[in-house]
Formats: sequence, structure tokens, C-alpha cells
Amino acid sequence: MRVGLIGLGVMGYRIGANLARAGKLQLVYNRTREKADRFSAEHGVEVASTVGELVEGTDVVLTMLSDDSAVSSVIREALPVIKGKVIIDMSTISPTTSIGLADQVRRGGGNMMDAPVIGTSIHVEQKKIAVLVGGPRELFETAKDIIGATAAAVEYMGGNGMGLYAKLVNNLLLGAYVAAMGEAYWFGVRSGVKPEDVEKVLRQLSSARSPTADLKVPKIRSGDYSTQFALRHMRKDLEIVQRETQNIGMPAPMSSLALQLYRLVEQGGGGDLDFAAVAELFKPRSNTS
Ligand SMILES: NC(=O)c1ccc[n+]([C@@H]2O[C@H](COP(=O)([O-])OP(=O)(O)OC[C@H]3O[C@@H](n4cnc5c(N)ncnc54)[C@H](OP(=O)(O)O)[C@@H]3O)[C@@H](O)[C@H]2O)c1
Repeated sequence: MRVGLIGLGVMGYRIGANLARAGKLQLVYNRTREKADRFSAEHGVEVASTVGELVEGTDVVLTMLSDDSAVSSVIREALPVIKGKVIIDMSTISPTTSIGLADQVRRGGGNMMDAPVIGTSIHVEQKKIAVLVGGPRELFETAKDIIGATAAAVEYMGGNGMGLYAKLVNNLLLGAYVAAMGEAYWFGVRSGVKPEDVEKVLRQLSSARSPTADLKVPKIRSGDYSTQFALRHMRKDLEIVQRETQNIGMPAPMSSLALQLYRLVEQGGGGDLDFAAVAELFKPRSNTS
């Protein structure tokens, strides 16, 4: 079985590296060719010049792309040669969009699964990500065998779109949680608690402590927002949550408020920063910490 990967961004590059080391990756494609050439030089995997060439040259195609429009455009290019192929999309996109694309792929004689990731680039390097899979049950073992080379957990969530809905459960909470963490951090510091003590509360003593607090509180304290997960991606995920909750007529005030906060930071030029930069909204201009 030949496996291909489309999308060598922050996540895709590292996922590809794990697959290549496990001997489970034969061909890569990236819109910006230089990244694919660098990957090929580092990992000895061949580069395809077009999406169609990659799909034709493989049986299973992983995609790890930015958003709905990127995945839709890649699937459009793949459709003429999709017969008999399996697409495993690891991007976080709208479940509704993904279900529609899976339908087009099926009508072309192929299959598509959604397999979004919980965990960030560091977790990929440590092979600690969790992957939530939606799509035909009979293809799950194939997907698990490949993705298992880069993940600690690969879980089946149901039919097409269910992996994405499950992933958005995580990001709804994460988006609201990190925004609240920024507010809590600056409430403590501005009230006179020492920054190191606020950090200790949030990371060690809080009843709401979490692995995310370990990753993000040091960033909030230092103001080092080098990117683990780009703020514009969190904004995108919360927008998807808004659309999906609207579709089912469910109020979603926490994620709605968090979305506005991320938009404010992005509008100020922070879209490529780590999403913990949302905490800057609560920082007093003259305060040093
Ligand atoms: N970073 C994280 O911590 C993390 C964690 C979990 C899930 N995710 C999700 O995983 C996905 C990828 O994230 P990332 O951080 O790897 O993003 P990224 O670094 O921005 O990479 C995006 C990739 O998509 C490609 N792309 C964008 N638009 C395209 C188009 N129209 N046609 C073809 N290719 C296109 C880019 O190609 P170029 O190189 O040519 O720009 C690049 O390879 C996102 O959906 C994100 O929400 C990310």
C-alpha cells in the first residue's frame, strides 16, 4: 500500500516525518514546493508536482491543510483520479463541509475519512497526539495502522464528520479555557499576587489545572507567543463551532464570547501568534511581570 501526504505545514511536516521514519510514507505534495523539496531531502520521500500526480501514485492520501477552502480545493483537484483511493483528512474543517466532500469522493468511486488531531506540534514530535476518526467503519483499521505511526491514540467516532464534531468539542472548551486563563492570570497579578504564585496556582494547585495550563501559563507570563497553535486557527475553529451550533439551534455563549476575543487580537495583528496571546487583552499597558 502506497501512502501520500498533502500539506507540509507546521503539523503536516512533523506528521510526515514520523510516517517516513516508520516507513509508511512514499510521496508528498505541498502547494509551496520548497517545503516538499526540503522534506524530501531530509526524509528521502519522493515529491509529486501536482495533487493529481500524488493521488494517482498512491492508494491512501493523508491531507493536513489549513481550512475548508484549502481542503475543498485539493479535493477538487483529486476528484478526476479519485476512483479506488482513500482520502484521510487530518485538517480541522467544518464537519458539514467535510460530509459534503466525502459525498463527492464517494460518487467518484473513492472514500474519505475525517481524522482531526488533538494536540499541537510538540505533541506530534513526541507522538502524543490523539486522532479522532469519522468515516466508513471498514476503513478504520487501515487508517489506524498508518496514523498510529504518529499518534498515541487513534479513536473511531462514527460516520463521516463525527471525528470533526468530536474534535470541535475539544476546541470549544480549549478556546474558552485559554481566554479565561488569561483573564484569571492577569486578575491575580493585577491584584498583587506574585506572578510566580499565580503560575503555581494555575499549574499546580488549581482544581482546574490541566496539560494546557502547563503549556500556556508560561507563555502568558513571559509574553513569548511563539506559535504552537496559531490564533487564526483557533478563531477559525470557533467560527465553525458557531455555524454548527446555529445549525442545530443550540446557544453557545462561551465559545461565542471567546471568538470575539480572538478576533480582537487577530485584528491587532496577532493572527500568527500562539492563541494564548488572547491573554494580552487583560494585561495593563504599564505593568511588568
Ligand atoms: N498547529 C497546531 O497545533 C494544530 C493542532 C491541531 C490541529 N491543527 C489543524 O491542522 C490544520 C493544519 O494546521 P497547521 O498548523 O499545520 O497549518 P499551517 O502551518 O498553516 O499549514 C497549512 C498547510 O495547508 C497548505 N494550504 C493552505 N491553503 C492551501 C490551498 N488553498 N491549497 C493547497 N494547500 C494549501 C499550506 O501550504 P503552503 O505551505 O503552500 O502554505 C500548508 O501546507 C489546521 O486545520 C489546524 O486547525 C493544528
